[in-house]
Amino acid sequence: MDKTPVYFYSSTSNLTGRFAQHLAELTGRAVHNLADANVRRTEASGPWVLLTPSYKAGNADEVTLPAGVRSFLRSAANRRRMVGIIGSGNRNFGVYYQAAARELATRSGRPVLFEFELAGTPEDVTHCAQILDDLDAALAASHPVEA
Ligand SMILES: Cc1cc2nc3c(=O)[nH]c(=O)nc-3n(C[C@H](O)[C@H](O)[C@H](O)COP(=O)(O)O)c2cc1C
Repeated sequence: MDKTPVYFYSSTSNLTGRFAQHLAELTGRAVHNLADANVRRTEASGPWVLLTPSYKAGNADEVTLPAGVRSFLRSAANRRRMVGIIGSGNRNFGVYYQAAARELATRSGRPVLFEFELAGTPEDVTHCAQILDDLDAALAASHPVEA
């Protein structure tokens, strides 16, 4: 069964990146770092999941989605093929907790599949891996590979 790849953005503090790395190690799933300009220039060839932190940027528009993610989503194909969103955040940000993942979910009509704080706990990684495995199975059932 195909494993839906995860495209993530992580800043230099790399909290989201650590979670993504643990997900890759646990599940053998491909994870791609949108902080890398070469990755941002590509297009996902099929269904993919976004993993993004929120950054309350202090700008007038209150844009919390990292620029690297916004850049990847300028591609209509990438927008169309994104099937779900995972959010990394910090509850200290109050009403802005998970703002990027939640606002993008509202705008795109795609579900928030899982949310965690900072780099997540080992239990968060296991739980998220299970959700992604279930997603793979659902996608395989809706688009069966021809024999
Ligand atoms: C300047 C700054 C702004 C942040 N804004 C938010 C926010 O609006 N909502 C939220 O849930 N978390 C917010 N966070 C927390 C980060 O999203 C969280 O620490 C995340 O794990 C960082 O991932 P990264 O280290 O991969 O970049 C903010 C963190 C920083 C440093």
